[in-house]
Amino acid sequence: MTSNLPIDGRRLWDDLIHLAEITDPAKPYTRRSFSPLFDEGRLWLRQRFEAAGLETRIDAAGNLIGRRAGSEPAAGTIMIGSHSDTVPSGGRFDGTAGVLAALEIARSIAQSGTALRHNLEVIDFLAEEPSEFGLSCIGSRGMAGVMEERMLAYTDPSGEVLSHAIDRVGGNVSALATARRDDIKAFFELHIEQGLVLQDGKIDVGIVTAIVGITRIEVVFKGSADHAGTTPMHLRRDAFTPAAKTAVFVDRVARELVARNAGLFVATIGIASVAPGASNVVPQEARIIIDARSENRALMDEFLARLDTETAAFAKESRTERAVFARLSDTNPTACDAGLRELLRDSARALGFSSTDIASGAGHDAAFVARIAPSAMVFIPCRDGKSHAPEEWAEPDALAAGTAVIAEAVLRFDRLDA
Ligand code: GLV
Ligand code: MN
Ligand code: MN
Repeated sequence: MTSNLPIDGRRLWDDLIHLAEITDPAKPYTRRSFSPLFDEGRLWLRQRFEAAGLETRIDAAGNLIGRRAGSEPAAGTIMIGSHSDTVPSGGRFDGTAGVLAALEIARSIAQSGTALRHNLEVIDFLAEEPSEFGLSCIGSRGMAGVMEERMLAYTDPSGEVLSHAIDRVGGNVSALATARRDDIKAFFELHIEQGLVLQDGKIDVGIVTAIVGITRIEVVFKGSADHAGTTPMHLRRDAFTPAAKTAVFVDRVARELVARNAGLFVATIGIASVAPGASNVVPQEARIIIDARSENRALMDEFLARLDTETAAFAKESRTERAVFARLSDTNPTACDAGLRELLRDSARALGFSSTDIASGAGHDAAFVARIAPSAMVFIPCRDGKSHAPEEWAEPDALAAGTAVIAEAVLRFDRLDA
């Protein structure tokens, strides 16, 4: 492992492996937000934050925050972090790498005896991944002051209301406005790249230029449950037929938009369910969620308009009803802060690491923090670009390198920002 860095890469790696082991054993690596395993992971994180001498609390939006006060508290706060929740059967690095890198930076700076002028905060944002409530980036939305009332009323399959779930993990929705911050002078997030640019280019770190906008649409078609053997084709009202046509349409239009070379565009249907769900019953209801992403809002707007028109037409063709067409969430592409990017580039160079500019096709809490504070991200290479899967992997040296770059940038920012 690389030595002479301003952080302890071995200690960071040990933390990362420890947290990864807090998983559903039947589905490694799974630690879904709001689940008992999530609470267990957070309890361990909280203890690690406290052992590092950080004053630890959960804010009203449910974010776990560890803080060390600066020598000039009026200088404001430097915040570093990411998220500890995972997708189902996800990896060991997505999110956790950024939280534990932040902890390692705070710990190393304290141990070196360096007194920062700014307050330093390490954060584990609540529920970055799309939760069972159909919403992602719950903690960072709250911190940015853009959590909508209608979102707080979303329910999970058990019927729990999101506002209740946030309170259950230690937040306080009735005081949500207190989570909004105006003292953050710089936010840094380390994350695995989840793509191939760094590995293919043999580059140590990526400095993120911008984060894609993400729109999630729920569509529910309603038809009629009938006997699959005795109902003739011309009489049935099969709710799955328009859903299937929508899947083909989404794939075709996404490819058409990509071919325009006007910026990244991708679309996925990762949730699809049919009710009542028996092989010999014509589906009465079909529900899909479409996740569409672009760095060009004009492409997204065109996609959404065409999706609206076509899903209504598909429903009509199959004599079903389009009962729901709802925008669950919708964010614009977000640029990272130019000054912080330059600082990260200089920090990488000073430590002897190569870097490149890179756009993010994944969503990140930094996109919400960017609404209230200068924000920037460092990507580290991950094996074969694989992520949201158990095979997800980053080398210990790569994690240490990315962490060291942010540590250096924190020290430089603290000196420069007068
Ligand atoms: C987060 O992982 C996302 O991009 O969905
Ligand atoms: Mn993820
Ligand atoms: Mn992530």
